[in-house]
Amino acid sequence: MTLEELLTLKETALREIGSAADAAELERWRIHYMGRNGLVPALMRQLKEVPAEQRAEFGRETNSLRQAVTGALELRKSALASGAAAAPAGAAAFDFSLPGRWNGVGTLHPVSLVIEEVCGIFARLGFTVADGPDIETSFNNFEALNTPAHHPSMDERDTFWLDDNRLLRTQTSPVQIRVMLSQPPPVRIVNPGRCYRRDTTDATHSANFHQIEGLYVDTDPVSLADLKSTLAHFAREMMGPDVKVRFRPHFFPFTEPSVEVDFSCHVCGGSGCRVCKQSGWIEIAGAGMVDPRVYAKVGYPADCYGYAFGMGVERIAMIKYGITDIRLLYENDLRYLRQFG
Ligand code: PHE
Repeated sequence: MTLEELLTLKETALREIGSAADAAELERWRIHYMGRNGLVPALMRQLKEVPAEQRAEFGRETNSLRQAVTGALELRKSALASGAAAAPAGAAAFDFSLPGRWNGVGTLHPVSLVIEEVCGIFARLGFTVADGPDIETSFNNFEALNTPAHHPSMDERDTFWLDDNRLLRTQTSPVQIRVMLSQPPPVRIVNPGRCYRRDTTDATHSANFHQIEGLYVDTDPVSLADLKSTLAHFAREMMGPDVKVRFRPHFFPFTEPSVEVDFSCHVCGGSGCRVCKQSGWIEIAGAGMVDPRVYAKVGYPADCYGYAFGMGVERIAMIKYGITDIRLLYENDLRYLRQFG
């Protein structure tokens, strides 16, 4: 290569590098000129074959070429990174009127919204939030809750058993047991969580659903009237002042007496619709006064007083937001879920 060719090469290199349109093109030029098999290193290797009398000058020029190319690569790189690069000929200039890129701010799922709201209401009443695992022992889910071995809910057709002793909890009530085993009374907790039952999915049932458990136990008297007033207060906070609350006698193995709690249907205002199956009421919770046999199982004194309740989160979400089919909560259709943010 002659000295003149060397100078032309420098010119070409600076022009090509200076007009690289993006980082990828710039990288191609870097490899072309400076890569291990690039033009500049090849020239450096050839220096020793240049006749001795020309070598010094060639050396200087090659060096200057290398510095110029390195500098031009750096310059173009920072220009491209800062967006200040002049657009290459023929390409459109940067359009400042283009809308920004949307980074997709998410929304909370209606189930999460309800859990947060319910826990917030009870927190203001002095309840703390407790937690427990989805995989439970048979003792916590059944025996300690006074549920005998022949009880239908222990049947394999109703419960997902993992082995003889472990299962996917069918209710959040085992957290009552965990909390009482870990601390003396008084206890005042709520506990949201997932539950699992071998239910066939339909508009109001799902094999995986959520409950929020509540437990209040004290050595001072706590009565069914306290339970009623607390849940009535909760209903008004959650649904507004017009909601009506109804208690129906029921049976649970671990509460005595036991009740089921209905809210008037928020969707139709109580006149009857698809969501409340024309009854005007929606079953929201099971509740009752803690059975003394449960106190015995966890080593609490027999003269404790307390109530417990367990409410269905999806049920509350359905009436609060007018959702007519529980499956809509689990299909993960973002167009549907975004409405609740
Ligand atoms: N765990 C019961 C259920 O799932 C509800 C309940 C909770 C009833 C607490 C009474 C007390 O049906």
